[in-house]
Amino acid sequence: MTLTGKRVLLIVAGGIAAYKALELIRLLRGAGCAVTPVLTRAGAEFVTPLSVQTLAENQVYQDLFSLTDEAAIGHIQLSRDADLVVVAPATAHILARLAAGLADDLATTLLLATDKPVLVAPAMNVRMWQHPATMANMTSLRARGVIVVGPDEGEMACHEFGPGRLAEPAAILAAIVSLLAPPSRPLAGYHAIVTSGPTHEPIDPVRYIANRSSGRQGHAVAAALAALGARVTLVSGPVAIADPENVAVRHVETAAEMRAAVLAALPAEIAVCAAAVADWRVARAASEKVKKKPAGPPPSLDLVANPDILAEISTPSPRRPPLVIGFAAETEHLAAHASAKRQRKGCDWIVANDVSAETGIMGGAENAVLLITATGGETWPRMSKREVANKLAARIAEHFAATGRKI
Ligand code: C5P
Repeated sequence: MTLTGKRVLLIVAGGIAAYKALELIRLLRGAGCAVTPVLTRAGAEFVTPLSVQTLAENQVYQDLFSLTDEAAIGHIQLSRDADLVVVAPATAHILARLAAGLADDLATTLLLATDKPVLVAPAMNVRMWQHPATMANMTSLRARGVIVVGPDEGEMACHEFGPGRLAEPAAILAAIVSLLAPPSRPLAGYHAIVTSGPTHEPIDPVRYIANRSSGRQGHAVAAALAALGARVTLVSGPVAIADPENVAVRHVETAAEMRAAVLAALPAEIAVCAAAVADWRVARAASEKVKKKPAGPPPSLDLVANPDILAEISTPSPRRPPLVIGFAAETEHLAAHASAKRQRKGCDWIVANDVSAETGIMGGAENAVLLITATGGETWPRMSKREVANKLAARIAEHFAATGRKI
């Protein structure tokens, strides 16, 4: 229950979208949130007080001058008892009154009297939404800190098309959750460098050596670390997947470029090398396309070793990140090979996975992981690469919480 113990004062204004407020109440209750509903006079033309009250499992307030309500709870107190005031649907009329500071019914009086954040989910005809008066009202409401969710674009009850539909109740709930129960950000203030994807090592201007890495695991790690509040620099080889949100991405092609981008991104507290860096590159890539000869043997490739980025940043130095994590893709003797790799590379942890062809892990959506640290190994069940990333990010946060080691 993400909203357990939280209280929302929900104002349901008049509009055909008012029926969706019932779904929002259901979702809020399902998330453990207490809902105090307020129904405007126009709102009560669209949904009945009884349905609102029943779903909210709470008294519905409608009348500013109701003696009974005032005796039990004053309107000032009602406006401040909640953690958040939500207006859904918010009609052009209630938004205009809120912008002007009018208090001519219970809903607008509560909005004027509250000292809590206000979230509005507008819903109205597209022309009403686009009218300069409404636009000006929205500008001043936003400037005053009112949070606006939607409206969505689509066909409206009046058969016109455009922005004006009430945002989906699930989207309104998500906005409420991010306000009232923001995710914890244990890695705020940390910088993480993540490498991801394959590298392309040119043979000539049109040909290159590559591998089957999709970048899914590394990109998911970058997103998971960012979700825990870290500032993330993702150094990505050529991949066919989108850049993760809230992450600074450096796009590179070759191992040499990846190395340079990683070194340029230092200092960092965390480095996760998930890229499948090509072990070799062509010693002298041709500057012109290598021609097929009608006779004679095919050209041979003279290979040289690429720099090992993980080993280089694991080397003790003042710029070594306090936590360096490598990946090991193995096809046999997973634990033994991965532990040996941890020693050889000098990194702190190794995330080992079995990439033998039958597992379908390389390029696939799932991963089965063995995490090897200085104190031993731990097997994780097969799960999606996103889940592996979230679990790894959580482990990283736990590590820093326990060691308190931060530059
Ligand atoms: O030696 P191997 O390629 O198996 O090591 C895998 C680990 O080393 C991965 O974390 C990979 O990102 C990293 N690596 C690297 N630079 C290389 C080769 C591997 O950073 N040139």
